[in-house]
Amino acid sequence: MGDGTTRDAWSSRWGFVLAAAGSAVGLGNLWKFPYITWNNRGGAFVLVYLACIAVIGLPVMLSEIMLGRRARQSPAAAFPELGNPKWAFVGWLGAATGVVILAFYTVIAGWSLRSFVQCVGWSINGYEAPSSEAFGAFLAHGPSQIGLGAAFLLFTAVIVVRGISGGIEKATRILMPVLFAIMLYLLVVAITMDGFGEALGFLFRPDFSALGAHAVLEALGHAFFTLSLGMGAMITYGSYVSRGDSIVNISLIVAVLDTVIALLACAVMFTIIFSVPSLKETMQAGEGGSTVGMLFVTLPNLFYTQMTGGSVIGPLFYVLVGFAALSSTISLLEVVVATCVDRFGWARRKATAAATGLVFLLSIGNALSLGASKAMSELKLPKVLTAGKAGVLSIFDHVAANWLLPLGGLFVTLYVGWVLDEKVAKEEIGTGPVYQGWRILVRFVCPVAIGWIIYEVLRGGDFS
Ligand code: PFF
Repeated sequence: MGDGTTRDAWSSRWGFVLAAAGSAVGLGNLWKFPYITWNNRGGAFVLVYLACIAVIGLPVMLSEIMLGRRARQSPAAAFPELGNPKWAFVGWLGAATGVVILAFYTVIAGWSLRSFVQCVGWSINGYEAPSSEAFGAFLAHGPSQIGLGAAFLLFTAVIVVRGISGGIEKATRILMPVLFAIMLYLLVVAITMDGFGEALGFLFRPDFSALGAHAVLEALGHAFFTLSLGMGAMITYGSYVSRGDSIVNISLIVAVLDTVIALLACAVMFTIIFSVPSLKETMQAGEGGSTVGMLFVTLPNLFYTQMTGGSVIGPLFYVLVGFAALSSTISLLEVVVATCVDRFGWARRKATAAATGLVFLLSIGNALSLGASKAMSELKLPKVLTAGKAGVLSIFDHVAANWLLPLGGLFVTLYVGWVLDEKVAKEEIGTGPVYQGWRILVRFVCPVAIGWIIYEVLRGGDFS
């Protein structure tokens, strides 16, 4: 794949939908969305996030898939292919963003390996609630953080080096439906628990007085992150989509699946928090690492104390978290590798080795920034850039999601709205009302909204 002669293709429309959904559904849904929603106090943040998905995320996704399918190239090669070599920088920016995201994402994905092993132990020997400091101690253990992250990166590289359609398409076809089924089962269990009503209230009752400019940028940034937009992943995946498929339907299905899984994850986790008084207290006090570790700390409690079949679901769940993360890291690494293959003419093997090596080096700083190294853990950049976050991992995450992805998305909308020949978009999307609506969104609404949010943040604004 990607060598220009034998370009791979998805074997069917569902193959692409599930792989794209596999890219979109990942730690962003299961790990990040619940904890940023918790930290931003629910309701209003969720509403803004949903608006960002519908008004900005969807049109950008449509644009990226369209660009990829039309050019049949990875991002940095797609713009020249479409006749605009000056815009290739957007593709390069995307590949760089991929490296930045992978450097922290693989470290967090590594936590799922530890949770899996821990659950197997509990299933065999009986559950013993870990002390509240246990997760923090794990985070501060440098060798574990580096080693687990590296293991995860290696899994990713092994799949990417082989090309994706055979491996990843087959795997996601089974894994995504199973993940969905398990999430639904967890929801059914949550519905029977005391805290369910309070969780729904938290999630859906908006309180706009709690909403600052940074929260709005965070919602926008997360919309890009969760849909894998703004760095060319969908351009790359789109380059393997066949001509006959409706990219409007595909985009809609991926966005809806992604949103449903993110909301389900919140509903389940918040229900447990509101149902277990001691947990509620620690979480509301916002104690060290507890919100970031929600997926890995809160859920085992549900599996082993509240539900039938928990000793089977527990380990299985973390296998699925690992696979959800893996189908995302594959798409991230694929962008970097495809860029090197298409632009430098490297063999796939060489490109994969180089990209993996670079990501690994950067991941070390991330892995040590969770307590193992004081310097890495306390690093700060100017507040306007990182909202005061400290530590390499938080900074990488924040800069990638809140700055690089929205900027990448902004460039994509400016390009398809103002530079790309209108004829191309009409041929790809059709000429009906959907096209008309999309065109207004990408030409005016998206660039203005993204630009305005960025402007507000730069001047320290507040949306409440
Ligand atoms: N969408 C993935 C998630 O929500 O976990 C993360 C991601 C994957 C971001 C691929 C960007 C990307 F290109």
